[in-house]
Parts: sequence; C-alpha cells; structure tokens
Amino acid sequence: MSALSSEHLLNIEDLTPEDIYLVLDTARSFKEVNERPIKKLPTLRGRTVVNLFLEPSTRTRTSFEIAAKRLSADGINFSASTSATTKGESLVDTAQTLDAMNCDLVIIRHRYAGSPYILTQNMRAHIINGGDGKHQHPTQALLDLFTMREHFGHIEGLQVAIVGDIAHSRVFGSLAPGLRMLGASVTAIAPPTLLPARPDVLGADVCYSLDERLGQFDVVYMLRIQQERLEESPFPTLREYSRFYGINSARLAALKPEAIIMHPGPVNRGVELSSAAIDNARNLLLYQVNAGVAVRMALMYLLLGGESEA
Ligand code: CP
Repeated sequence: MSALSSEHLLNIEDLTPEDIYLVLDTARSFKEVNERPIKKLPTLRGRTVVNLFLEPSTRTRTSFEIAAKRLSADGINFSASTSATTKGESLVDTAQTLDAMNCDLVIIRHRYAGSPYILTQNMRAHIINGGDGKHQHPTQALLDLFTMREHFGHIEGLQVAIVGDIAHSRVFGSLAPGLRMLGASVTAIAPPTLLPARPDVLGADVCYSLDERLGQFDVVYMLRIQQERLEESPFPTLREYSRFYGINSARLAALKPEAIIMHPGPVNRGVELSSAAIDNARNLLLYQVNAGVAVRMALMYLLLGGESEA
C-alpha cells in the first residue's frame, strides 16, 4: 500500500502537488541520513527491489541501487546484456517471470515509451519508470524539483528555461509538467529542428534564441543532445549548435546574478556546457546527482508504504 496517491510512478502526472511535496520533504530527511558516517537504515529489510535497466544508465541505475542498499532492501540488478531479452524474451514474459519471484518494486528503463505500463499489467509489484524512450523520466524531474526547492526555498514563481534537445527529451516530458504543477513558469528554448512538430502542445512558452532571454531566468536547465536518438542532422555541426545554444563564459556572465545552471547528465562536454561552465559554482549538476539518491530513497519508502517521516 503506497503512501502516495498512486501505486506506481510512470508519469509525473501520477502524483498530485501534495504527493510531490511529500516526496521532497521525505527526501530532505534521507539527504541528512546520507551525510552521516553510517548511512544504512533498516526501513525496507525483507523487501525485494529489482533494477531492470534495458537501456544504458549511470546516474539513475546507480542511485536506485545505492538507495535500495541504504534502506536495507534486497536489490537485484538486470541489464540488457545479462537478461534473457537478448535471447528474444518479450517484456511481458520477463514481467511475468519476475512476478513469479514475488518482487516488491521494479524500476525499469527501456527504449520504448510505455514499457513501464506493460509491467503494471503483468506484475503485482510497484513500478517506477526510470526513463522510457522519449516519453518520461519522472524521478529525474523529482530530483530536479528537489534541487530547485533546496536552492531557492520555493518552486512557485520560478522562471525556468529548458534548453536544447526538447524533441527527444524524456527529461523535458516530466520536468515541464512537474514545474507547472508547482507554479513555476517554463520556457522551451531550442532551434525549431529540436522542437516537436507541434510546439504548441508542449504547454510551455517557446523561444528560438537563448541570448534573447537568457538574463531573465532563475534556472537555465540544459538538455543533452541525444545523438543516439537523432534520425537526421538537426544542426550543421555540434560546434555550430554550441555556438548558439551552449553555456560558455560569455553566457555565464549574462545570467541573472542569482541564477543557477542545471543538467540531467551525462553532459556532452563542450557542447551544452563548456568546461568553464561545468566547473562554475552556479552549475548544480553534482548536487542533482547527490539529491538523486535521497529522492529515490524517499520514493521507495513511500511507495512501499512508509509514513511521511523518514
Ligand atoms: N540523468 C540520467 O538519467 O542519467 P543516466 O542516463 O546516467 O541514468
């Protein structure tokens, strides 16, 4: 029985604003635990958590694995190369196989949008979407919301620019609605070739020029160019893209004095962010990674029936 309104987290919209604040408050407690010398809690002893990562990941997979260990759950890790999907097993059959082993929680990353939903139809376990194709990445959105709230003390009223490869971005797919739910304003900044065919369906203000509006944002959230998902070349070269849409020293200087830079990682160094931007104190990328463990601990705890206090 989940302490959230939903038994699963497939899309950010599965959560109410109250659920999101409950996750963020609970994560704050777990972040404090993560700073202690002894970081382990007995909270999920005896529960089985499966990491089913059928697409590459460093941050999401590792942080879920660490989160499960810190809560004393039994964690099992599958990757594409070690699962029977390489022998042609379907996702439905994989789900039914894991279900027969009485897992409590499955985190899935998959190249196809909607894969987490297939698990919910074939398993009794709680399911968390760890990123499905170009669709959603709700735990990334939660750790990003956590980061903004801890930095500014609030999310309501923030002006957030999300810059770059909007068309292929599951991060945008979860973060933009999450920000809107909590009262922030969202502007998508990209060349037309990296926006969806109908930018009006984004529910965000759209701008083609980063320099035109850079000085007005509290948060400049840079998206990775997803070279593995590009079907055609949407810009002449990466260097050309970076010249118009990358954060470099000149653009750092043009930011609002209190503005921060965020990026979900992995970064194409020298494309979305120059080395100077990566090393700048306004770049909260590693804070985001650190927060990711606490947010994922909070989600596991709440989905598996925890109370609001960690
Ligand atoms: N941000 C993110 O999802 O990174 P990984 O692909 O390394 O998990």
